[in-house]
Amino acid sequence: MSQTEQAPTQHLSAEQILGPTRPQHRAAGSQDSRLANRRWWDADAGDYHAEHAAFLGDADFVWCPEGLREDDAHLLGEVEGLRVLEVGCGSAPCGRWLTGAGAQVTAFDLSAGMLSYAADAATRSGLHAPLVQADASAMPFASQSFDIACSAFGAVPFVADSALVMREVARVLRPGGRWVFSVTHPMRWIFLDDPGEKGLQAVSSYFDRSPYVEVDSDGVPAYVEHHRTLGDRIREIVAAGFTLTDLIEPEWPDDLEATWGQWSRLRGEVFPGTAIFVCDLPG
Ligand SMILES: C[S@@+](CC[C@H](N)C(=O)[O-])C[C@H]1O[C@@H](n2cnc3c(N)ncnc32)[C@H](O)[C@@H]1O
Repeated sequence: MSQTEQAPTQHLSAEQILGPTRPQHRAAGSQDSRLANRRWWDADAGDYHAEHAAFLGDADFVWCPEGLREDDAHLLGEVEGLRVLEVGCGSAPCGRWLTGAGAQVTAFDLSAGMLSYAADAATRSGLHAPLVQADASAMPFASQSFDIACSAFGAVPFVADSALVMREVARVLRPGGRWVFSVTHPMRWIFLDDPGEKGLQAVSSYFDRSPYVEVDSDGVPAYVEHHRTLGDRIREIVAAGFTLTDLIEPEWPDDLEATWGQWSRLRGEVFPGTAIFVCDLPG
């Protein structure tokens, strides 16, 4: 068996663990969001990796379902010898790619379930970095202890107060540090989460910031995602003290046919699915 091949493992699906969930329009504050998402990502870790592990790779840094790789994009700059924090790392394939590139990586995530996949992949690949279970809203790291922070769809869309996450990242970075994060492009909020024709029809207001919440059969939130407009995101970045250096909206590549959830060629050729924010602290 090669290093990257995985023996098939048995896992329960999120639905088997949490029961059926249904979408509901309701408020979800920081505590609700944290509890729901920890439960969700613990329960969904098996399904997530059964579906996406091959796309993510064991030690690869893919920014988004459009397949943009750090190896090609160089958004973080030279990382060798630098202290890098991966925020909402999941199974930390990005962290292992960075470790392979010579960075001193620390990777953290809210979900022990997701981190257990990171620990397994570290053993398989031999690329080890400290893994920490923590909430992006209260990072257990000293001020100015990292040169770079990064996140591929981790944490930021799932917290009620993403302005606080921006401030936390600014705190743990040294002056002159860089923060790059990818999230679902804000304009996707308007559409159904559907990779096909239905996902081309506008159904919601771009300006409606009420979160998307799925509740379990007891009415308890089991998944929460929060929306920010593009302007909201930029204001939160700037208010935390960063300069926004670039905003990348990757186009759908000619050679990519794979669908990832709502991300598909059909939609990706019409409007962006990902926004990547490149932010710098003054030196
Ligand atoms: C879509 S996954 C992305 C994971 C990984 N970056 C990847 O590309 O596979 C989102 C991750 O964010 C984590 N997350 C959600 N809320 C968080 C929070 N408040 N603090 C830290 N991580 C969080 C989840 O546990 C999950 O692992």
